[in-house]
Amino acid sequence: MNKEAFLGFYKKDVAERQRIVAREFALNENEKALLTKEGPLPFEVANRLIENVIGTYPIPMGLATNFVIDGKEYIIPFVLEEPSVVAAASNGAKLSTGFTTKADEPIMIGQVQLVSKNPSENVIGATNGNNSGSPSTASNGNVTNAALKIVTAKKELLEFLKTVDPILVKFGGGPKDLISTVLKTERGEMIEVQLLVDVRDAMGGNAINTMLEKLAPKLEELTGMEARLKIISNLAVHRKASATTVWTKEMLAESTKGEMDGEEIVERMLDAYAFAVATPFRSTTHNKGIMNGIDSVVIATGNDFRAIEAGAHAYASYQKLYAPLTKYYKNKNGDLVGEIELPLALGLVGGATKIHPMAQLSLKILGVKSAQELARIIASVGLAQNFAAMRAIVTSGIQAGHMRLHAKNIAVQAGATEKEIDEVAQKMVEAKEVNQGKAELILKEIRSKSGSSAKGKMIIS
Ligand code: HMG
Repeated sequence: MNKEAFLGFYKKDVAERQRIVAREFALNENEKALLTKEGPLPFEVANRLIENVIGTYPIPMGLATNFVIDGKEYIIPFVLEEPSVVAAASNGAKLSTGFTTKADEPIMIGQVQLVSKNPSENVIGATNGNNSGSPSTASNGNVTNAALKIVTAKKELLEFLKTVDPILVKFGGGPKDLISTVLKTERGEMIEVQLLVDVRDAMGGNAINTMLEKLAPKLEELTGMEARLKIISNLAVHRKASATTVWTKEMLAESTKGEMDGEEIVERMLDAYAFAVATPFRSTTHNKGIMNGIDSVVIATGNDFRAIEAGAHAYASYQKLYAPLTKYYKNKNGDLVGEIELPLALGLVGGATKIHPMAQLSLKILGVKSAQELARIIASVGLAQNFAAMRAIVTSGIQAGHMRLHAKNIAVQAGATEKEIDEVAQKMVEAKEVNQGKAELILKEIRSKSGSSAKGKMIIS
């Protein structure tokens, strides 16, 4: 590969970039076809979404069924690559008595960091003008005074910010509050200004960042400090969604085809939950199970799953030790109650949501009318997903269901051709042994019976 070939790569069009990649990485005809075949996301659109586009990367899209949320039935698009997640969410929803949800108003937080123009004033208890942060007893109070000036000017600053985004204000959103806090940092005192904005049906990144950049000079003028970071926070604690449901003992027993008692399953679920509360090694995996479903719907609707992930995990440790995002307890009937609460900053307008044709299709299937409704659905998905994984783990174990659905992938890895995949997968499930070694053995047997040799891929045993 010649590095020079990628100089000014971003200035080329997609076709030219594809030609460069084909040449520089010696792609064969099949590989070239993978790059150049246009799917439901046209190259022209992809090229507007990110930079240096050379193609698109399809991920399966499936539908989770059985969800009844606040009395309304939903079919929910998932986009992900992992087997058994869609089946598990559908199963969790099927076994539940329906979800009851809530969503906060769409209030996002933007932050401005203010630092003193004279670095010595930043230092807590500065006495000698250097910025070493060495401990001292007295603060010069300038930073605190500056923070108070912002509080005093809050009303007029918010009025000014309304003029920055009049359309948002027209739709009932806009700036709502301004909070300033003095932070004692390892680099001395700084001010954190939090701007709270109702962003309505947007995720809010652009609206907030624009407002912050307009606000910054006003804050500098007011305080004599310097505005450095001006950026949205992904810890959207004012924009949470929650969902709750009940899984009855009877349904739980039925889910094991009567092999286990419902009360026993409830007790095991509560033990599993207590375990997750007690150790971060489990709560991390517990929350990963929740995000299996949440990310899948966030991606399907063209929303920013990195922001949702960051916010979810930060919320799991917000003002406490890292903990599960769900809660489980028993109600007076002895049934299992599940609850979830997390920040969900989602948009129906802006970003890929409006641009990606598949995101538009997902929203049509969901039939959502507002970002809050989408957040309520996604909270329910997270709860169903978490329940389904826990139920599987405390009953038959995760491998039974997950590996059954993963068996086809294992068959492919073992070298099965399209015609052989189903048979190999089926035989592994019947043998209750789903792994590559077993797949290779089965494949050998099938082929020796039919007298055929390895077609296509080499069998490594
Ligand atoms: P089952 O009880 O053997 O399945 O569960 P079933 O055949 O009785 O079907 C029950 C329902 O599941 C079906 O109802 C479907 O809704 C759905 P029906 O429509 O028949 O009335 N279902 C399916 N939907 C779509 N395609 C399918 C399918 N099969 C069943 N092929 C199941 C089987 C896999 C659902 C169950 O074992 C399960 O829920 N397992 C959990 C799997 C899971 O959580 N996978 C996530 C990946 S593992 C992970 O990453 C997270 C983890 O580490 C998190 C943690 O530790 O907490 C586990």
